[in-house]
Amino acid sequence: MNAPLVSTTSAWQSLKALGARAPSLRSLFHDDAERFTRFSCEAAGVLLDYSKQRIDTATRDALLALARQQQVEARRDALLRGEPVNLTEGRAVLHTALRLPAGSHLMVGTQDAAADAAAVRARVAAFAESVRTGHWRGHRGRTMRHVINLGIGGSDLGPQMVQLALTPFAQSDLAFHFVSNVDGRHLADVLARIAAADEADRTLVIVASKTFTTLETMMNAHSARNWLLASGCPIDALEQHVVAVSTNVSAARAFGVAEQNVFPFWDWVGGRYSVWSAIGLAVVLAIGAPAFEAFLAGAHAMDQHFAQAPLERNLPVLLALIGIWNANFLGHGALSIAPYHQRLARLPAYLQQLEMESTGKRVTVDGQPVDYATCPVLFGEPGTNGQHAYFQLLHQGTQPVPVDFIAVVDDDCGLPGHNDALLANCFAQSQALAFGKTLDEVRAEGAPAAAWLAPHRTFPGDRPSNTLLLEALTPGTLGALLALYEHKVFVQATVWGINAFDQWGVELGKVLTKDVLGALHGDLGPALDGSTAGLIARVRERRGLGK
Ligand code: F6P
Repeated sequence: MNAPLVSTTSAWQSLKALGARAPSLRSLFHDDAERFTRFSCEAAGVLLDYSKQRIDTATRDALLALARQQQVEARRDALLRGEPVNLTEGRAVLHTALRLPAGSHLMVGTQDAAADAAAVRARVAAFAESVRTGHWRGHRGRTMRHVINLGIGGSDLGPQMVQLALTPFAQSDLAFHFVSNVDGRHLADVLARIAAADEADRTLVIVASKTFTTLETMMNAHSARNWLLASGCPIDALEQHVVAVSTNVSAARAFGVAEQNVFPFWDWVGGRYSVWSAIGLAVVLAIGAPAFEAFLAGAHAMDQHFAQAPLERNLPVLLALIGIWNANFLGHGALSIAPYHQRLARLPAYLQQLEMESTGKRVTVDGQPVDYATCPVLFGEPGTNGQHAYFQLLHQGTQPVPVDFIAVVDDDCGLPGHNDALLANCFAQSQALAFGKTLDEVRAEGAPAAAWLAPHRTFPGDRPSNTLLLEALTPGTLGALLALYEHKVFVQATVWGINAFDQWGVELGKVLTKDVLGALHGDLGPALDGSTAGLIARVRERRGLGK
């Protein structure tokens, strides 16, 4: 028998009633001078200030009751134990095993996931060390200078985002290039720059693909290999230039990667949760194995907090419940991610995949359509850039969009004044969103030239935000921050009754691409709709191939 939808439960109905009379942020702050203390929480180097959410103690209690009703604690424990919680694919989900301390053991069936992860980590560390110290040489005997990571989705966004975020921790003079798109311009532009510097023989290509079947990555891998050969690399020296990271070791071997250069991971690591695995190879090459260990340790600290802290002080649980409150009871269908740190520029894209691919679902685990919202639309840019683009809508548009502001206290740019200006902008934005400006306040500032101009200058306020504050952006705090969002996603999926760990929604387009590609090449195949057929005909005409 199907489990009842969460929306039919008494905990959900109580929250609906609370949502209908949610207090304003002005009144919440007016009534409680201690609000910041009461509505903030800290763990593993991350402070979450959620006082600018339209939540009072009654709402928080009701949200926690919803979490308990949905058995968040028991399901969390099952996840961390390695039970097959990814039911549609019959898999355990154990990215947390990738960051267990050395010497840990965690059995998945007959496999010791923690021990196997540590063994691969040691291989990755040794390989990275040999490249970083210059022992690893290319076919002309020169050291490596360029690393090209070929991967897409989780095999791209994680290593790319983390490598950029941790730039100050990089001690090698390697240049990193992340190529994901099937659009050949992406790869061609990188290869052209390397060729112009006559450094093809100083190039290391990482083919990063969980499945080793993804169209984009395989096309890029073949093109990169051909380019290496064309630029003078003897075929038997390719192993000095191409390595692979995959769960599909046999396919990587069949592609021509030497056995010792394939770094494996396992099907219990989801693509968007894989930066902690050998998929993080580019990061290890950049910052070295000890700093990567610190990154894992930061994530592990958050894992432990998630596993042990009571729900009312549990950061991932609170972040998840705030999102549920906004999406399901205040009706907000989007979430803006605003990192006030230029090196976190790729964090919004990373979280887009983490959240939207995980909880962008419309049926429950047992296949029932839901009658409530699930994942909001995520988008974002680093602050302060977003302020000069889409923040106008956030302040005065018709649809309130909650924001996660992410800020870092310490300065490491060496340019006086910038960091305080950055922090001041960040805090001022959440203030303006929360409290707005009334007509009376506009008038009190001095009457505008004409009365009809005054409403243009008012701000409705009551636009909720979180502020996540890190003292410094280090491997450890970054690891903790990412683990926080991972667990947030799990808690939300648990409450919504959906599976966070599959992604069937990306499959249909992949299948149709094959038919369309055939039609572009003149193979008629299955009948196409009028729009698609018309577009294909236009391309063929332009190429002089007839319709
Ligand atoms: O198409 C979606 C997806 O499967 C993501 O979940 C994944 O991160 C990405 O493609 C890349 O997959 P792979 O690592 O197998 O090449």
